[in-house]
Amino acid sequence: MDTDTAYGLRLGAPLNELAQVGQGTPYGEVLRRYWQPIALIGDATTRPMKVKVLGEDLILFRTRKGKPGLLHPRCTHRGASLYYGGVEDDGIRCSYHGWVFDTEGHTTEQPCEPEMGLHRDRMRQPWYPVREQYGLIWAYMGPAEKKPLLPRYDTFENLADDEVLIADDNGVGGGGPALLDFNWLQHWENVMDPFHVPILHARFSGNQFTPEMAIIPEVTFDYTPRGVRSVQFRGLGDGRQLRRVTEVMFPNMRVVASPKLTSGQTNMIGWVVPLDDTSFKIFTIARDSDPEFLKKLRSTHEGKAWKDLTEEEHQRLPGDYEAQKSQGDISLHSEDHLTTTDQGVAMLRRMMAKQIKALEKGENPPGVVFDESEMVVAIEGGNYFEDAVAEPATVGA
Ligand code: FES
Ligand SMILES: [Fe+2]
Repeated sequence: MDTDTAYGLRLGAPLNELAQVGQGTPYGEVLRRYWQPIALIGDATTRPMKVKVLGEDLILFRTRKGKPGLLHPRCTHRGASLYYGGVEDDGIRCSYHGWVFDTEGHTTEQPCEPEMGLHRDRMRQPWYPVREQYGLIWAYMGPAEKKPLLPRYDTFENLADDEVLIADDNGVGGGGPALLDFNWLQHWENVMDPFHVPILHARFSGNQFTPEMAIIPEVTFDYTPRGVRSVQFRGLGDGRQLRRVTEVMFPNMRVVASPKLTSGQTNMIGWVVPLDDTSFKIFTIARDSDPEFLKKLRSTHEGKAWKDLTEEEHQRLPGDYEAQKSQGDISLHSEDHLTTTDQGVAMLRRMMAKQIKALEKGENPPGVVFDESEMVVAIEGGNYFEDAVAEPATVGA
């Protein structure tokens, strides 16, 4: 008798210790040991803006003198939100009783108190340090004594005269809407899943990238000091091969070169930043001579933008969004059947679990830098066209 029907199916559970991002959650604490991009530089203005990061609601603003600040919304006096505050030269004034906080949460005025508040130094608005770099605002949301340096990346250094840096928070590389409404890990681990490319992005969606990407690659995976790397070999049939290197770097970076196969080291890096357990944004930085480079990279489906697809077209031409969102708001990882081609995903999950343990033992996670001599990170990801050695690496799909 054939008994494997869906009757009595157990639904399973997510790998919460890897997927959840709030304070005190195992991987949420790993994420908090690194600077995270939280907004574009232009988002911080004298009009307070609500931002959500790692499950925390915060208020971003820029003082009239130009300094960005990131404060907890609930005023330390009696809780009115600083979203309704007024930005001044050196801080933000709560609209309820006028207390003023600077960008580090110091209370600088309490106008209704005698002498502007004799004890105001005892009341500090919860705050996070922020920095501006490469067009993005970065926040450090972890324990103060563990705050590392804000790293730089060789990809974005020493620009040529005709090159610019482009920063984007619009989900480049994720497909679908700018605010992705499911758990961030489904997207991050997809970066270590090179086999979905020739299937989802070629056979299903009518070759979204280039003809070479439709070839099923031969792949090796290995650990690097900062994460996991996959190297994908595609024989091109003309004595050359494409060696495409893709990296994930802790805690949530994606180093994926242009699928349109620009040659050499990648010119872009992304950060998969959870807003909470069931939504995330992808911040991307690129260097290029064309300021529209990232916009042009956005994938289309038979020439149509994702947002213009009909329901029938979503079914017929699914992309990353359809695949990853449909795994669930948080995937039930316990029910996955990881096979040979999921080696990269398994390695990434294993390394994440290992870093959680390392943190519990008081160690620093990989790539957290305290020494200026290690501040510039070398990026290996890219598309490298080479003479094929020995046998052509692959069979065409
Ligand atoms: S609640 Fe903010 S000053 Fe009173
Ligand atoms: Fe994809």
